[in-house]
Amino acid sequence: MPRLLLLAALTAMSALQAGVVLNAQAAQGPTMTPFGKTQEGQPVERYTLRNASGMEVDVSTWGATVTRIAVPDRNGKIADVALGFDTIDGYLTRHPYFGSTIGRYGNRIGKGRFTLNGVEYKLATNNDANHLHGGVRGFDMRLWKARPVSGGADGQSLELTYVSADGEEGYPGKLTAIVTYTLTPKNALRIDYRATTDKDTVVNLTNHSYFNLAGHGSGDILGHELRLDADRFTPVDKGLIPTGELKPVAGTPFDFRKPTAIGARIDADDEQIRFGGGYDHNWVLNGEMGKMRHVARLVDPKSGRAMDVRTTEPGVQFYSGNFLDGVKGKDGAVYQKRAGLCLETQHYPDSPNKPSFPSTVLKPGQEYRTTTEYVFGIEKAK
Ligand code: GLA
Repeated sequence: MPRLLLLAALTAMSALQAGVVLNAQAAQGPTMTPFGKTQEGQPVERYTLRNASGMEVDVSTWGATVTRIAVPDRNGKIADVALGFDTIDGYLTRHPYFGSTIGRYGNRIGKGRFTLNGVEYKLATNNDANHLHGGVRGFDMRLWKARPVSGGADGQSLELTYVSADGEEGYPGKLTAIVTYTLTPKNALRIDYRATTDKDTVVNLTNHSYFNLAGHGSGDILGHELRLDADRFTPVDKGLIPTGELKPVAGTPFDFRKPTAIGARIDADDEQIRFGGGYDHNWVLNGEMGKMRHVARLVDPKSGRAMDVRTTEPGVQFYSGNFLDGVKGKDGAVYQKRAGLCLETQHYPDSPNKPSFPSTVLKPGQEYRTTTEYVFGIEKAK
């Protein structure tokens, strides 16, 4: 049944009956609609994940990209809180990584070089002299193979696989990457990342969704309040490559240990803020890497929408959308500077060149495994 008709029918039912229908639909697994074609003419698919609370997430096989996240506000009003494009065309050429899966390596590798087992590898450079987000054609610009997983108690899942050839963008080893999106009954979008390789390589996968909890296209995110469970961050040089230092956030505009409006210090007279043009830095998350733990909470005080982030990763790149400059997005929206923000869970940028940072090396026989959850909820009016 078309979703709108279904919703109309549901409003005529009792809450109990409606819950039963939505539960039955959730149990069927994600549904697919065609999403156009790649430039080479291959068909692209878009899957919708649903749960019984009415939350929906769309994921495209192009770039294993999250193209829509529809969640209720404190009055039950649904809005799409993810920036993106209506059609495949926006996603096919270089865009600000809206909703993209980033690989083989999230964020920057200085000068696009690193040495592994005594061999120097030269990567594609696409950010001045540096390598960013996997290179000229990263995992965001690749067609993934989808396998819908029917909903169990955990919710609906979609598994996406991409095999990255040995030497692609300069990386050693054939890497098989599997990203599984699950929408749980408790409004969590869980992302499980797995990868295996046939030669020693480096890997650091993340998701580059831009969130605006007031709804995409509703202005900037400066009034959103952010809490980051991080006592330290990794300061950068002017090319946004970490210096190697883990610097305490205390007394700096990077202290988000208490919920703070993003706009409160974003233009502070601070060298790190100047380098990023706002926030575009990696925070060193408290707690033990490898263990799932709460690391961030984002709240839009007006709509009451809230999002908690939980991850096994050691870091998060908080990027305040500083480079957005009038991108034409979904539903006629125009995304200006800071129209959305990213919380990219990850290993620290430039780890392959920073022996003191947690290692991103993956060897044959090992399995790379990380998990991140974006959990949507409501914050009561103050
Ligand atoms: C990351 C980088 C930023 C920028 C955005 C995309 O967050 O750190 O510098 O590249 O992605 O524009």
